[in-house]
Amino acid sequence: MSENSPVDAMRRAIDTAREGALAKIMAAQDSASLRDLGIELSRKTSGLVALKGEMGKLSSTADKRAVGQYLNNATTEIAAALAARTTEFADQELLRRVENERIDLSELLTTRRRGHSHIVTQATQRLEDVFVGLGFQVAEGPEVETDFYNFEALNMPRSHPSRSEFDTMFLEFGEPGSTLLRTHMSPVQIRVMKTWKPPIYAIMPGRAFRRDTPDATHMPVFHQIEGLVVDRGITFAHLAGTIEAFTKAFFDSEFTSRLRPSYFPFTEPSAEFDIRTPDGDWIELGGCGMVHPNVLISGGIDPEEFSGFAFGFGIDRMAKERHKVDDIREMYTNDLRFLRQF
Ligand code: DAH
Repeated sequence: MSENSPVDAMRRAIDTAREGALAKIMAAQDSASLRDLGIELSRKTSGLVALKGEMGKLSSTADKRAVGQYLNNATTEIAAALAARTTEFADQELLRRVENERIDLSELLTTRRRGHSHIVTQATQRLEDVFVGLGFQVAEGPEVETDFYNFEALNMPRSHPSRSEFDTMFLEFGEPGSTLLRTHMSPVQIRVMKTWKPPIYAIMPGRAFRRDTPDATHMPVFHQIEGLVVDRGITFAHLAGTIEAFTKAFFDSEFTSRLRPSYFPFTEPSAEFDIRTPDGDWIELGGCGMVHPNVLISGGIDPEEFSGFAFGFGIDRMAKERHKVDDIREMYTNDLRFLRQF
């Protein structure tokens, strides 16, 4: 076939169109212009597409086949180049975006500070450890209580004057005054008595709520731990001995405890207990006493067969004393500069 045969002429035209298209593809600067170029190259008037239309001018079938194949190869080559360049741009753009959206977290890495439990959680866990060591089991109850568990079952009927000492937060649920946020942990005593069988040696730590204005020694949400023992032949001596054993185990063997006569509706006799620091200071800790027969009956326990003692005190107060915190509110402001000290 001579240099100037129609087939050669077509091949040269195809080469030119192919090289032109490839050069444009390589010259494209971004994926948008590449997309436009793809559209342009597929138009009827563009080089290779137009040449396809000219195939009809070739006379022999052999020529048509030869040129057709040449044209197809060129088209495939251009499509591949277009695809490769598109991927290249997509990769580059992804890299650029990742780079732009990068957040520098190295500050966290360099300080390498580990978190730890809040001081009230630490105090609760230590209290649990000490009482579990003395043979107690840990019990829980709901924060939303009924009048029955919070008052009635604890020997405080509707008219009882002691009720007013608990600045109760009531919930708008059921009968007015029937549902409340527990004002102390004592209602859990009743729940434990109703579900466990004596002998009962239980502690009940948790959150309690009162309508108190926050100040240096009060918070409307605070933590208490309640203790309950119900068994045969339990006396006041067991109560005093347990408080003393707890004091020494929790604080130090140098600490001692004392009980002062007091009044609580749910215990009879009742006492308040203080602990004495090695310096001779007395710190008021909580209340205790022998479980009132009416309370045992509320819990479904026969007071002729069993007797028991109970106690309850504030956990926040203990953490405050232990760490010499001036203002209890500081424990709840979530200021890391304060919290990290403990
Ligand atoms: N529930 C009492 C309060 O919150 C504390 C208390 C006193 C608990 C005497 C007791 C107890 O179990 O026997 O003020």
